[in-house]
Amino acid sequence: MNLPKKPMNLAMVAGARPNFMKIAPLIAAFNGDSCFDINLIHTGQHYDQNMSESFFRDLRIPEPRHRLQVGSGSHAQQTAEIMKRIEPVFIQDEVEAVVVVGDVNSTVAAALVAAKLDIRVIHAEAGLRSFDRTMPEEINRLVTDSISDLLLVTEESGRTNLLREGRDPKQIVLVGNLMVDSLRHNLNEAMDSDILTRLQVCGCFGLVTLHRPANVDNDGKLTEILSALSEIAEDLPLYWPLHPRTRTKINGIGLPSAIHLLDPLGYRDFLHMQAKASVILTDSGGIQEESTVLGTPCLTLRDNTERPVTVEAGTNRLAGTSKVSILNAWQESKESPKAGAIPELWDGQAGVRCHAAIRGFLLPS
Ligand code: UD1
Repeated sequence: MNLPKKPMNLAMVAGARPNFMKIAPLIAAFNGDSCFDINLIHTGQHYDQNMSESFFRDLRIPEPRHRLQVGSGSHAQQTAEIMKRIEPVFIQDEVEAVVVVGDVNSTVAAALVAAKLDIRVIHAEAGLRSFDRTMPEEINRLVTDSISDLLLVTEESGRTNLLREGRDPKQIVLVGNLMVDSLRHNLNEAMDSDILTRLQVCGCFGLVTLHRPANVDNDGKLTEILSALSEIAEDLPLYWPLHPRTRTKINGIGLPSAIHLLDPLGYRDFLHMQAKASVILTDSGGIQEESTVLGTPCLTLRDNTERPVTVEAGTNRLAGTSKVSILNAWQESKESPKAGAIPELWDGQAGVRCHAAIRGFLLPS
């Protein structure tokens, strides 16, 4: 007798804000594939309504099967807590493969637990390297990639880095950018957002985001950045949705009234502001990519980027973190704006290509 084959239990792990835009198109791409039972696990690394649930709503991500509610902590505490709570889930659910995305603590924690349980690990957004090991995300990327079985990359630099690290070319697939899928699928609705009216923005404006520990936890750097932003705000009003980490650091610092501090924004409202901004000043990874696709000039407040295609092909410029370097980059971007091209395969179909690559890897015919 031929019994119907049980679908493969494929876990997908998300935990922090930038994970949600990547997991949404991936889940959508597996919709209707009866060979897989998708087991979404939310670690709870991010938990505030406007850091997590609003993204589930805007991106129409289904309710996770498991919420681990790990919350905040030091890197060791948070990573360890995710590992402790996710291991019994993998065992009880008889998870057969795990997809992790991006470079946050949830990514590396889930990958480590899976690898030690001999569960296959698939890393979406593999191979990105800033070559700066003081960045916690760089450690997460290196560790996750080194124990992943299938490496899905967003840009050619990812493949080059992985090959240099000795990875088998057969394990690497250029799939494009999942975050861009979310952007393209949501752009029309985002453009209907009335966020600019609600904020009473009239005319041109700049958009700021800042959350890297290297920038906001370092008083010297933060002072340099704030001083550059204050000068730019004399030309262009700046709107700055504050990450919780940053809010605690700049509380009590007097800023010019042309720098408007906001609570974190929902996905569509923020996309709307990115599309309409004259310039974006950021230390985020994902925003470098989104601004390139939207054609908005981006000044990255860092000395390096793990996403070089956004500088080589896109609208991104590395502006450094000193007052002088930021103001120079701002001047340059006004005098010679970059035309910017869309990187290869950033076409809204990355989810479909991920699905095909994962299927081919897990269910070879
Ligand atoms: C994390 C990621 C970073 C990513 C960023 C996006 C790591 C190592 N870092 O950094 O790569 O770019 O998310 O936002 O995984 N907090 C809240 N509410 C929340 C979440 C956090 O108030 O919902 C506060 C807590 O005080 C917490 C602090 O923000 O201690 C930092 O959160 P955490 O997740 O540890 O790191 P992020 O800076 O958000």
